[in-house]
Amino acid sequence: MDASSKGKNRRRGKKRRKASNNQPPEASVGASEQTPSSSLSVSKRRKLGGATSTSCGGNKSTSFLDKMRARLSGGHFRMLNEKLYTCSGKDAFDYFKEDPELFSVYHTGYREQMSHWPEQPVNIIVKWLKSRNTSLTVADFGCGDAKLAKSVKNKVFSIDLVSKDPSVIACDMSQTPLESSSVDVAVFCLSLMGTNYPSYITEANRVLKPGGWLLIAEVKSRFDPNNGGADPEKFSEAVKNLGFSLVSKDMNNKMFILFYFRNKERSVIDRNISWPELKPCIYKRR
Ligand SMILES: C[S@@+](CC[C@H](N)C(=O)[O-])C[C@H]1O[C@@H](n2cnc3c(N)ncnc32)[C@H](O)[C@@H]1O
Repeated sequence: MDASSKGKNRRRGKKRRKASNNQPPEASVGASEQTPSSSLSVSKRRKLGGATSTSCGGNKSTSFLDKMRARLSGGHFRMLNEKLYTCSGKDAFDYFKEDPELFSVYHTGYREQMSHWPEQPVNIIVKWLKSRNTSLTVADFGCGDAKLAKSVKNKVFSIDLVSKDPSVIACDMSQTPLESSSVDVAVFCLSLMGTNYPSYITEANRVLKPGGWLLIAEVKSRFDPNNGGADPEKFSEAVKNLGFSLVSKDMNNKMFILFYFRNKERSVIDRNISWPELKPCIYKRR
């Protein structure tokens, strides 16, 4: 290599360093750090609005890298979470179908958020099921990592937008492949996310046997009328108009509300139900 090409290379190196210094702080995440978000392709990270540079200061402390990595994946989680709350189930299904890796990014962030909750609603539902006959067939609408199915002896149909496990049925839960009148318990645990959430409850009603249970756990703030949330009475009224009766409502938990409905043996469904809007549950940056 002659002196002039060495000089050119030095200048190029300088330019490259300058370019990486102009990136947002998140850009310092190391290429070899296989977090769900850093393992995404550059184009996918761009799509998520995340950092794409992979320059890495070799002697930066691990805790600094850990913080940056957490911030990057936290940002991706919040963006995906907002997307799920502000689009229809069909759009969410198409979105994840195109890029199923994003489902893992979402669930890594979701698990992190849930680790701060004093009680997980899925555990309350597991306890409720364990106190009943194991012969009850369950449909878990929006099952996530299918914790419910893994925790009980009952036959559970686990349904979600993406199937990371062969036991999970991948579909938009407004249109499941389940037979009509085939399950005893329908569960929505923090999963009424889409803008068309009433169609999920209508689908649960279709697959429930007469006298079947409908359990709905939702983030408390979504049912706080003083804070822009829905009126829980109006919500219960809408579900009742679908042919259910409200057996009980558990408001004891700090983070979530739990409704226990049961559908009537024979019911006439009101076709003009007025469903309240459920506001998106947007997580704040920690
Ligand atoms: C907040 S997570 C809760 C997961 C699980 N139920 C739990 O309690 O840990 C909500 C889940 O609902 C799923 N979900 C949202 N809309 C859906 C739809 N239209 N069809 C199927 N699954 C959906 C999401 O993909 C996500 O896995």
